[in-house]
Amino acid sequence: MGQDARRMGLYRSQVLPRCMARAMGTEELAKHRERAFGAVSGRVLELGFGAGLNLPYYPAEVSAVLAVEPALINRKLARKRIDASPIPVEWVGLEGESLPVESGSVDTVTSSWTLCSIGNLAAALSEVRRVLRPGGCLHFVEHGMAPDPGIRRWQARLNPLQRFCFGGCSLDVPIDLCLEKAGFEITELEVGYMPGLKVQSFLYEGVARPRPVI
Ligand SMILES: C[S@@+](CC[C@H](N)C(=O)[O-])C[C@H]1O[C@@H](n2cnc3c(N)ncnc32)[C@H](O)[C@@H]1O
Repeated sequence: MGQDARRMGLYRSQVLPRCMARAMGTEELAKHRERAFGAVSGRVLELGFGAGLNLPYYPAEVSAVLAVEPALINRKLARKRIDASPIPVEWVGLEGESLPVESGSVDTVTSSWTLCSIGNLAAALSEVRRVLRPGGCLHFVEHGMAPDPGIRRWQARLNPLQRFCFGGCSLDVPIDLCLEKAGFEITELEVGYMPGLKVQSFLYEGVARPRPVI
């Protein structure tokens, strides 16, 4: 058994990333990737890089991508996309909660379908604030807490199963509230259900920037 399987377990380190790389590569999700990240620029840090499915949608204005990803198998799964991209990719860390990156050194942070899986989201968002340069922004597309009480009840019921099957992913993270609580101002936000099961398809897509500390 490899080091990664010992750290995360075989299912989470090997099986789930391969399933995710396939399941997340749909045209429907691609539309959101393009819309959320098609206009980012500079030195970009991506939380939960996965198999690099956002890479084709970054524009030429991106000078480098710093990839943060706990499952090392994704380095192999992302290889083809990295080789095909003109943007250099550097693997910089394993978890959003602890970013081995200098304060104020990143122009943009991106996150897609990842904030739901981060164990200590408050710590990760605090790290995002720290590494962003003044004026830098977080661009996100995430699923999370639905507005309808009936769907929310099902999200709460299904959460234990969802976390077990999908590497700690919670169905009902109130993405907007978490960002605001962590000291971000949301400057752009679109919400709505994607096609598919309503418990896992309510999307939050937008841009947030750290509120200045007074
Ligand atoms: C549903 S996948 C999404 C992958 C990719 N962002 C995409 O859009 O295809 C969630 C990703 O979050 C990663 N992840 C889980 N916990 C994390 C953490 N604490 N910090 C950063 N990434 C994490 C997982 O390994 C996985 O690659």
